[in-house]
Amino acid sequence: MSSNIQWHHAVVTRPLRERLNNHKSFILWFTGLSGAGKSTLAHRVEELLFERGCRTYVFDGDNVRHGLCADLGFSIEDRHENIRRIGEMSKLFVEAGVIALTAFISPLRADRDMVRSLAQAGDFIEVYCNAPLEVCEERDVKGLYKKARQGVIPEFTGISSPYEAPENPEITVHTGRDGLEACALQVVRFLEERGQIQ
Ligand code: PPS
Repeated sequence: MSSNIQWHHAVVTRPLRERLNNHKSFILWFTGLSGAGKSTLAHRVEELLFERGCRTYVFDGDNVRHGLCADLGFSIEDRHENIRRIGEMSKLFVEAGVIALTAFISPLRADRDMVRSLAQAGDFIEVYCNAPLEVCEERDVKGLYKKARQGVIPEFTGISSPYEAPENPEITVHTGRDGLEACALQVVRFLEERGQIQ
């Protein structure tokens, strides 16, 4: 960080924004293998929250890599930087009173824990989209697993690059077994029970 910079405190604060919105702001962090259904689930949960009047925004791995993170690849270092940027961005959205839903593989525990520690206590809710590798590979929606097996795509998560499943996620959804609607309702119910939304 460069020197000679100072934090400027907002007049319109997060608590004021939360009161206006009538809900808390927080990060809903979806993690899982490629093809586990992170984006689909994040967008469906967003729809359900939006219908209830919540202010939301989905950050999606593929989309963010078209712009903010277009300079990054899939080495461990680049994935770390990708997650760091999204973590910082999500934190700003939380300050803005928004529920930030993020759909990134975020394969390493240390990187996810880094975002957890960036956020205030209780603001980071980890949603593990648990779908076995065999199921994701069988689906192969984007044809990437086939290419990874052929060696065309290097450092592919689950094939030639690691995925560390969360040990203590706030929510585990079995996206390889349960349908989209069941998983989405499970997430929304959890948020209700925890008092994140009314
Ligand atoms: S990470 O690990 O969190 O930084 O990855 P993320 O930003 O979520 O990007 C994952 C999407 O990029 C595509 N893709 C790859 N994924 C994994 N490994 C390699 N090498 C790779 N190359 C491209 C892929 O479409 C991922 O999207 P999802 O939705 O997860 O399938």
